[in-house]
Amino acid sequence: MLSAVFPVNKLRKAEQILMNHKLLNPRLKPVYLENSVFFPLSEIPSSRIKSLIEKLNGRIEKVDEKFFPRKKRSLSLKELEKRHKIVFPKSVSLIGDILLINEIPEEAVAKRNFIGEILRENFAVRAVFLKVKEISGETRVAQWERIAGFGGTFTVHKENNYYYALDISKVFFNPRMGSERARIIKLCRRQEMIIDMFSGVGPFAIPIAAKCAVVYAIDINKHAIDYLLLNAEINNVSKKKIIAIHGDSRTEVPKINVKVDRIIMNYPERAISFLDVAISALKKEGGFIHLYFFLRERNKKTAIESSRKLLEEILKDYTIEFEIRKIIIVREVAPRKYLLVADMFVKRRYDLTE
Ligand SMILES: C[S@@+](CC[C@H](N)C(=O)[O-])C[C@H]1O[C@@H](n2cnc3c(N)ncnc32)[C@H](O)[C@@H]1O
Repeated sequence: MLSAVFPVNKLRKAEQILMNHKLLNPRLKPVYLENSVFFPLSEIPSSRIKSLIEKLNGRIEKVDEKFFPRKKRSLSLKELEKRHKIVFPKSVSLIGDILLINEIPEEAVAKRNFIGEILRENFAVRAVFLKVKEISGETRVAQWERIAGFGGTFTVHKENNYYYALDISKVFFNPRMGSERARIIKLCRRQEMIIDMFSGVGPFAIPIAAKCAVVYAIDINKHAIDYLLLNAEINNVSKKKIIAIHGDSRTEVPKINVKVDRIIMNYPERAISFLDVAISALKKEGGFIHLYFFLRERNKKTAIESSRKLLEEILKDYTIEFEIRKIIIVREVAPRKYLLVADMFVKRRYDLTE
């Protein structure tokens, strides 16, 4: 069958052209390989469309019928267990056209490739990867081994109507944060200046930059910043609205020569220790901080209560007025370990630099 292949930076424009001309095969999903997107075609494009494809540096290629995952209704992991009478992983994550598994239950390790194949077919993905080394270090990157399918760990994920090109062996990305990110994106206002202190590949920064004045997006991982710039291009977000900074937020935030209205601190392991830097970057009339953190607690109710006390205790050491507007449990990441976010309004009481 035929595929239209494009460099991934042309993804949105290419998809639009193929859709407008009803050339996309509706039963198959696109495939992402090494910075290229492969679209499944439903028919041979006319020579006029072929020249449009070439203008976007695209080409037409013949591929095997089985190259593209076929859209289908997936069974749940429980249903798969019943059908195949083996233990499946407790959870899976879907990022773009790949499926990630954190671990295979011990009794099923010998059948991991079989499990991989079933999952690949069931969730209609190009490949299935198993985590072989835990997320570690400040860049929060794990190591993966392919147990089914073909190709590497590069993919493109769609979230809140934006596309994110990324390689899970080089950058951190959590697809389970989509609705929380949508909540923050909704809170941002048009005229606001914003800092995303731990931006990753841009799932907060890019939609917010599309909506607001300017976003300063900082990450210590060079790959994350490279993908963020690529993602700004894919999603047609002007470089004037998103200022990508590779470096440590502790030293980079103080170099930003404007004060901002809002700061996103999505590095739950350590964000609290960066609060001093964030507070001094806010406008003197005050601004919002969205602080993500982990807490171990008995249950959700006590997690929220203890978080409030903990944050009040930390914030009272600063010469600021603050109001913790909301604390939300984003999700339970392990038994009795919660990922929380605090939405806070913070205003410095005085500023020695003014
Ligand atoms: C939990 S990830 C969040 C990424 C992104 N906000 C998202 O939602 O996908 C935390 C990010 O912080 C970055 N990071 C860790 N320490 C940092 C530092 N000192 N300064 C800037 N970025 C840092 C990591 O490289 C990683 O991309």
